[in-house]
Amino acid sequence: MDKLIIRGGTPLRGDVTVNAAKNATLPIIAASLLAEGPTVLADTPKLQDVTTVCSVIEGLGAEVTHGPNGDLTIEADRIRSHEAPFQPARQIRASFLVMGPLLARLGRAKMALPGGCAIGTRPIDLHIRGFAALGAQVALVHGYVEARAPRLVGNRVYLDYPSVGATENVMMAAALADGTTIIENAAEEPEVADLAHFINAMGGKITGIGTRVLVIQGVKRLKGVSYRVVSDRIEAGTLMVAAAITGGDVTVRKVKPAYLKAVVAKLREAGVQIEEGRDRIRVSCNGRPRPVNIKTLPYPGFPTDMQPQIMAFLSCAQGTSVVIETVFENRFMHVPELNRMGAQISTQGSVAVIRGVEKLWGTSVRVTDLRAGASLILAALAAEGTSELYGVKHIDRGYVNIESRLAEMGADIRREAE
Ligand code: EPZ
Repeated sequence: MDKLIIRGGTPLRGDVTVNAAKNATLPIIAASLLAEGPTVLADTPKLQDVTTVCSVIEGLGAEVTHGPNGDLTIEADRIRSHEAPFQPARQIRASFLVMGPLLARLGRAKMALPGGCAIGTRPIDLHIRGFAALGAQVALVHGYVEARAPRLVGNRVYLDYPSVGATENVMMAAALADGTTIIENAAEEPEVADLAHFINAMGGKITGIGTRVLVIQGVKRLKGVSYRVVSDRIEAGTLMVAAAITGGDVTVRKVKPAYLKAVVAKLREAGVQIEEGRDRIRVSCNGRPRPVNIKTLPYPGFPTDMQPQIMAFLSCAQGTSVVIETVFENRFMHVPELNRMGAQISTQGSVAVIRGVEKLWGTSVRVTDLRAGASLILAALAAEGTSELYGVKHIDRGYVNIESRLAEMGADIRREAE
């Protein structure tokens, strides 16, 4: 395991370019199983989660080749098994996104029930109810999900909660079903929209993209295509907060400002200067932020994946902020570690009260999950003195070479073996 050594206090300056979105790349890799012929994904982010999902589809018989500059070529004509390999499938929840494509292609699917993770139990009931609505028989047998559907038939699917994964899984199953499926209360996240655009590029017929009602007209076949995945709004938001928390001046490039409206609004409310261009956002900040109240919500609300990061920023605000986490039931794992750095945050259920302090102090902290790790990097960049972050593998799941990209903007950060 690696650790990061960060000496805080340097304002970040310069430009940084955002990678392709992890949370669009993962479902799109799964969706490539729907296609006849090769799919080529350009510039995929070099992340552990991408490698893991690739090993899941390889275990099903797909051929995956990694090109020179992050290009991924996926050939899924000869998927021979309907059963996902246990080990990689259990590693990350996103592996469950192969269920929809397998049902659509083979009429059968079997994989280990995805475990919960640090941030919550993360059930899959909405996925299963969606598959059943399309005519699949789904059973939970000894910790495995087994689904059979000789024929998938389009239907109306209402999601009790606009679940990103359930919307994606049902959309992929519906793409090759007989007839039309209407998903109501669908997730509107940009990554869900990107998956729909990818399926349409393969010959799918999805309308209502980016809205709460998706209409998927089943087609007979889908063909592999070349595709460039949308940029990562959460990585962009994390880099924006890095600029703000260090009192720097950074331009984040290859970003769609429209996908970050809630984050931009809250940073501006906290007193951060933000200039938006067509595909870039410039962030500058001097002095401590003003306190703001935040409630995480499904898109277009404030993203839960940015909650730990903004909490690090508000730890140094000139006053008290309140953060309510409505999406996951246990996403305050970063709070005890931030408090060890001198923050004054108290939590009660899904509510965190953050009393701003003058400054944070570098110390040793443990990373428990991906975005908690991002939060601790941000806090360490602003803290007085040196911090050691243990458990960097969690951060590597979602951020490419985070230390070299921050160092390019002036951060005093290096990676060492733990
Ligand atoms: C996706 O997870 C993202 N992951 C998460 O990003 C993100 O936090 C989340 O969406 C919300 O935006 C990927 O896209 C790979 P959900 P997903 O289904 O699809 C409940 C990161 O840091 N729910 O929208 O698993 C669930 O318990 C990760 O990059 C059910 O109750 O999220 C949660 O409370 C973390 N039943 C809420 O919905 C279900 O069947 C949101 O989950 C499914 C979900």
